[in-house]
Amino acid sequence: MKKKILITGASGFIGSFLVEEAISQGFEVVAGIRKSSSKTYLQQPDLTFLELDFSSLETLTNQFKEYQTSFGSFDFVIHNAGVTQAKQKDDFITVNLEYTKNLINAIIDSGMKLEKFSLISSLASFGPGNKKTFIPVQQSHEQKPITDYGNSKLLAEQYLKSAPNFPYQIIEPTAVYGPRDKDFLQFVQLVNKGFELYIGAHQQMISMIYVKDLARAVVQLLLCPSVNKSYIVSDGNSYQKDQLGDILKTILQRKVIKIKIPLIPIKLAVAAIEKTYQLFGKNPFLNLQKLNEISCANWTCISTDVWNDIGSQPAYYLEEGMKETVAWYQTNDWLK
Ligand SMILES: NC(=O)c1ccc[n+]([C@@H]2O[C@H](COP(=O)([O-])OP(=O)(O)OC[C@H]3O[C@@H](n4cnc5c(N)ncnc54)[C@H](OP(=O)(O)O)[C@@H]3O)[C@@H](O)[C@H]2O)c1
Repeated sequence: MKKKILITGASGFIGSFLVEEAISQGFEVVAGIRKSSSKTYLQQPDLTFLELDFSSLETLTNQFKEYQTSFGSFDFVIHNAGVTQAKQKDDFITVNLEYTKNLINAIIDSGMKLEKFSLISSLASFGPGNKKTFIPVQQSHEQKPITDYGNSKLLAEQYLKSAPNFPYQIIEPTAVYGPRDKDFLQFVQLVNKGFELYIGAHQQMISMIYVKDLARAVVQLLLCPSVNKSYIVSDGNSYQKDQLGDILKTILQRKVIKIKIPLIPIKLAVAAIEKTYQLFGKNPFLNLQKLNEISCANWTCISTDVWNDIGSQPAYYLEEGMKETVAWYQTNDWLK
């Protein structure tokens, strides 16, 4: 019999690839979505859906009890739903921490006995690496997030670790890119228009992971003997800030003007915008925290454990991954 897996946040960028990967690895997949979620990337014939409202522990518990009575228990849960950007600061804690707590407690209270619960956290739960030594972040380092987002992810990790008799894996991906992603898209669109925009002229190093490799690793880890363990996930390389631009220029066959905006004036402008937004109780898309995060010198990490434990290596490095990504953006008319 197929093992059954619930994947939350299935409608999103990473979630939709987790669904594809789990199906291709022979799991019976239940896509956890909400009423308003798009099913554009969830068209697989065998896929079933479960609308989940994480805001109420009671509703969620009853839903799992009813599901169990009608369809049996889940063997695995990948909790991928989360917010990476938020209009209000509190949304990070509400969605990334409180909803994760509700999900964990609803599973426990409904009497489901999982083989593993996998939490998609983030490298942001560690914060960046040392900007002078450029030593990559690794699992043994102290977790010191520098954003509300990273902090909410760290608190969710800590809560999961404290749940008694609840077998877990924690996945801490670095920046994820690939088809359907809208974060790197903006940079790719600019390069396509002939501009390469950087904040600050300082040296910056980053680790990255292609979404298909991430999804493969997450699903394969479920079947590994390892349990109650955290994994930083990257493709194992450290990329210079300009490398992405160079690769994109080649793929898109564009001549570009490289613009490096000094950090201080941007900080002043963003601080002013943030203050104005705060008057209306809102959080702008680019605030000081986000700016500090994206301008950090060292976002590199070590992720040997994940590839050792699944007995495999990444299939994509930046060049191959970006080729597929750009091809997808072009086919789907996203590079306007
Ligand atoms: N992208 C990255 O570089 C990266 C790196 C490290 C970790 N992560 C983590 O990976 C996970 C997925 O991120 P992503 O980049 O794929 O983001 P995404 O495309 O925005 O997907 C987020 C998913 O979470 C769901 N979701 C958001 N708020 C929810 C709520 N209040 N209730 C129920 N579902 C909710 C969304 O549902 P709707 O479709 O209905 O909105 C969507 O399915 C997140 O936990 C994120 O923290 C991402």
